[in-house]
Amino acid sequence: MEMPTKENAIASNRDAWNDSARHHKDTPQWRARLAEVIQPDFSCLDDTLTGLLHQVGVDGKDVVQLGCNNGRESLSLFALGARSVVGVDQSEAFLDQARELASRSPHAPEFIEADIHHLPGALQGRFDVALITIGVLNWMPDIAAFFHHVAQTLKPGGALVVYETHPFLEMFDPETDDPYRLASSYFRSEPFVQEQPIVYEGRVDQPASPSYWFVHTLGAIFTSALDAGLQIRHFKEYPHSNREELYDLYEQKKAQLPLCFTLVAVKR
Ligand SMILES: C[S@@+](CC[C@H](N)C(=O)[O-])C[C@H]1O[C@@H](n2cnc3c(N)ncnc32)[C@H](O)[C@@H]1O
Repeated sequence: MEMPTKENAIASNRDAWNDSARHHKDTPQWRARLAEVIQPDFSCLDDTLTGLLHQVGVDGKDVVQLGCNNGRESLSLFALGARSVVGVDQSEAFLDQARELASRSPHAPEFIEADIHHLPGALQGRFDVALITIGVLNWMPDIAAFFHHVAQTLKPGGALVVYETHPFLEMFDPETDDPYRLASSYFRSEPFVQEQPIVYEGRVDQPASPSYWFVHTLGAIFTSALDAGLQIRHFKEYPHSNREELYDLYEQKKAQLPLCFTLVAVKR
């Protein structure tokens, strides 16, 4: 299969995520979310991320979430005391959902449609905290370029907080007969390509724009953060899964894989 250029991969991922949005509306989860966000203290953040954000300090701060999807996590930042929240995503269709959630909420986040590699000038040097959560890093064809752009949103002394899936998991395929067999190289350079709609559970057999999922080693992530002028202040790995339910089978094992990580890096 011919590999796309970086720009084409980003554009195709945008089309795939725009198509994905309709699969996440008019579901029981969406209706529940519409009701929950009415509460001023609404938060869907788990204990790991909540604890870390408390440590970093979000109270009274200006926060940006990059790859905010439907804005549920951006809205949750107000429960931690954020003064202002901006959510950035390149999927217009998911930002429509984010704005619908925000319209029910007592808080007023701003949602901006942009590719993280082409952020508007108004977002540069503006934030105390930048947040990246599960399922963002792997859509990026060039992790060094991505960290460079993310770092630019921070004020000097501002902190990037990442809560992501662990790259070791990319070596396993939970859908094969032997989900513990090493199925793919940790150093894989070509992306995984999916040609069906992006959904969080199961599979929808309809055509969709190809989406490109890139594997980044921990070494590439650390080096990219350092090269972007960020100082790594915290890194922790966990035995719990923060990704699709499919991956829960890797939890609670005697020989435990790391399943996710948190990283905090501060702009010099
Ligand atoms: C898996 S979702 C994030 C979900 C979020 N962590 C949550 O739990 O709600 C990944 C998001 O990244 C966005 N994204 C992917 N590539 C992007 C890019 N180059 N610029 C901006 N957003 C991007 C997608 O549109 C999608 O909404």
